[in-house]
Amino acid sequence: MKAILLKEPGGPEMLTLGEHRPPQPAGNEILVKVHATALNRADILQREGKYPPPAGESEILGLEMAGEVVESGLEVEKWKPGNRVCGLLAGGGYAEYAVIHEDMALPIPDNLSFEEATAIPEVFLTAFQALHSLAHLQAREKVLIHSGASGVGTAAIQIAKMSDATVFVTASASKHDLCRELGASFAVDYHTRDFEKEILQQTYSQGVNVILDFVGAPYLQKNLNLLSMDGRLVMLSMMGGIHTDDLQISNILRKRLQIIGSTLRNRSLEYKIALTRDFRLFAWDAFAIGKLKPVIDTIFDWQEVAEAHRYMESNQSKGKIILKVN
Ligand SMILES: NC(=O)c1ccc[n+]([C@@H]2O[C@H](COP(=O)([O-])OP(=O)(O)OC[C@H]3O[C@@H](n4cnc5c(N)ncnc54)[C@H](OP(=O)(O)O)[C@@H]3O)[C@@H](O)[C@H]2O)c1
Repeated sequence: MKAILLKEPGGPEMLTLGEHRPPQPAGNEILVKVHATALNRADILQREGKYPPPAGESEILGLEMAGEVVESGLEVEKWKPGNRVCGLLAGGGYAEYAVIHEDMALPIPDNLSFEEATAIPEVFLTAFQALHSLAHLQAREKVLIHSGASGVGTAAIQIAKMSDATVFVTASASKHDLCRELGASFAVDYHTRDFEKEILQQTYSQGVNVILDFVGAPYLQKNLNLLSMDGRLVMLSMMGGIHTDDLQISNILRKRLQIIGSTLRNRSLEYKIALTRDFRLFAWDAFAIGKLKPVIDTIFDWQEVAEAHRYMESNQSKGKIILKVN
């Protein structure tokens, strides 16, 4: 089959379209003809040789796909050839064919294209896991979502809004309109404003109940200061750095804070199946009526994969960057 291959760890120019042996579906897996896949920041780290795939998983990049079922393992009961599915992968999405456990596949709603459907699994499952499974977000709580216009951020805003929470975001100013359209009540440009001060002002010094963070060390003190009693901080990435010299931690005890770190890719299959099932119950009807929407910035032909990676690295995108596979 055709697939995007990594010549050697390095820059975007290391990615080229080539030939790779196709995957074989195990008993409980389906083989999917991939029509679209999407970029994730993890792909950049994997391309650079800093984030190898979990043992036994495909070496091909790509953590999600949408396509059509072409073959089923002997134990598969839920799918038949021709079904349109999308789903989360531990690797192997940048390819003509991918395999997925039958319980990890999601049926693509009729109103969504393959490009739209592949914009869902990684960022919506991550946001749902963070806000619901980890932070136990409640109706009428306040949530601060950093990098609000990122792929995960745009999913998190919508999920928080659907959960009747009030949403605050940080993002570059040019991305604020999108965040508001998706449901954010207030957006701070972290480049020019002090987000701690602004959010405290907006919340009459109450702060927020939940924070979703991707920036890490530079935000940690402000995040601890901003959380209200019994607040929860979910840390999903450390794009801004991992070292912090001078941290005042008394708020952790005084306000009974919880700091939760998480990754999705290396979770067990059982965990991911349960998460997919819970997410489908929460979200699937909402996607079918357009209440939840995949947010797409740009669709690239997969031959332009290097350009797509450069675009993600430029931090300009809002929502997902998609590769059309043909
Ligand atoms: N732990 C998990 O389970 C999990 C799962 C999925 C993704 N992630 C991680 O979550 C992060 C977001 O992923 P994504 O796919 O949604 O990313 P994305 O769509 O590429 O968006 C990232 C955005 O973050 C902002 N940003 C980048 N560097 C920053 C910095 N140093 N300080 C502040 N803001 C910065 C930029 O927006 P602005 O213009 O607003 O600055 C950038 O466009 C990635 O690091 C990814 O690896 C973690």
